Amino acid sequence: MSLAHPSLTRPGLTRRHLLQGGLALSAFGLALSRLPAAFAQDAEARLLTAGPGEARLLEAGQPATRTWLYDGVSPGPTLRARQGEEVFVRLVNNLPQPTTIHWHGIRIDNAMDGVPHLTQHAVAPGESFDYRFTVPDAGTFWYHPHDRSWEQVARGLYGLLIVEEPEPAEGIRDFAIVADDWRLGEDGQIDEASFGHMMDWSHAGRIGNTLTLNGQDLLEILVRHNAYMRLRLCNTCNARVLELRIEHPGIQLVALDGQPVEPRELTDGYIRLAPGERADLLIHFYREPGSTAAITEVSGGQRLEAGRFVYHPADRVIHHSEPNLRLPANPLPTNLDLGNALSVELLMEGGAMGNLAQAMHEGEMKDIRSLVGAGLAWSINGVAGMTEAPLFTAALGRTVTVDLVNDTQWPHAMHFHGHHFRVLERDGKPAESEAWKDTVLLDRQERAKIAFVADNPGKWMIHCHMLEHQAAGMTSWFVVEA
Ligand code: C2O
Ligand code: CU
Repeated sequence: MSLAHPSLTRPGLTRRHLLQGGLALSAFGLALSRLPAAFAQDAEARLLTAGPGEARLLEAGQPATRTWLYDGVSPGPTLRARQGEEVFVRLVNNLPQPTTIHWHGIRIDNAMDGVPHLTQHAVAPGESFDYRFTVPDAGTFWYHPHDRSWEQVARGLYGLLIVEEPEPAEGIRDFAIVADDWRLGEDGQIDEASFGHMMDWSHAGRIGNTLTLNGQDLLEILVRHNAYMRLRLCNTCNARVLELRIEHPGIQLVALDGQPVEPRELTDGYIRLAPGERADLLIHFYREPGSTAAITEVSGGQRLEAGRFVYHPADRVIHHSEPNLRLPANPLPTNLDLGNALSVELLMEGGAMGNLAQAMHEGEMKDIRSLVGAGLAWSINGVAGMTEAPLFTAALGRTVTVDLVNDTQWPHAMHFHGHHFRVLERDGKPAESEAWKDTVLLDRQERAKIAFVADNPGKWMIHCHMLEHQAAGMTSWFVVEA
């Protein structure tokens, strides 16, 4: 069974993205590099306003797209904090519906996790909410709504939260790319008619048709010969598993989901990122001045250029000392006590071509027809949607192993709140990666065993980050006792 991945161009638009040369250079210092520190020391909230706006997602001459944005920009402002510092953000809701902010991947104080009905009341239109928390880990994180996220994220609400190491590396340029696939109509506007379509909800989710990097149709990043860059990538698509290729040799992977990994070179510059996942790469631009290196996306079956690095024709960087390319470890609880672990099975069922006949929903057994009638298509351990009782309760400090079983014909990006975990096994075989993740992609019919130390008290979500799957039932929660 092949996954339906519509191509990334809208019908009727020209394929200007396909690999060709000849665009003019744009300026240095593109949007996301080195913003001033977002958070004042004197505990004043940084306002972050969610509201309707417009974004120029398409090439010049095309209409602007009516969106929902944070502070009127797409992607939302990059918030920066130092590791261990307090973040203090006042969300102001100017949207026509309630919202919250979830700080994806932050091992956060539970009350600040932004999950309506579980950790806070949703913030009504015209109201505000103060998010105030410390950030224990340095790395690449992001924020997005957790109320009707399938609609709010699709309309453009998301941004990065970058937590800097206590001593940021010298001589390495920091740059971030937020990738999103929008579903636009021929008029360049968000396809609203398809919000809530069971066709998406029971299949791959809402797959867009227009790919942007940092809200731009073709992102150009000017670089200089011999420069080093830490490139932070984040997939904010509702459902598309991005398959990116950076067509430059020698790219190192240095972190996943905000947590450092043993550096390793990407094969052919290729990286696959599920919705919600991040990767930090290290690139040494050692080719000749005037070179270019395309950033392409291939999940649609075509090689689509979404951005490119363009070397300055003459300028070179001189390093007076070798930049330190090692990221320090974060203070994660890495002592897994597998012998005494709480062992949990998490069975995912449902979706098109699946075999889900019935599931519990709100305390009642429902057959698949009434589930679909209620906008549900997926279950976890036989239950569609949230339950009164948590999936499991762990004592503080207990190691938990979860056997994730994807008994469906679709990939799922399973995200755990408040914790990072290790993937121990895939399909019964030891997993190669030593990474600590907050989101793990399971291909159809795949299994994975993960483990983490339940060291963060509170009520935490587990859900698929294909946002339509989450909304259509693939969601649950667990408790860590105080
Ligand atoms: Cu990025 Cu529960 O979400
Ligand atoms: Cu899913």
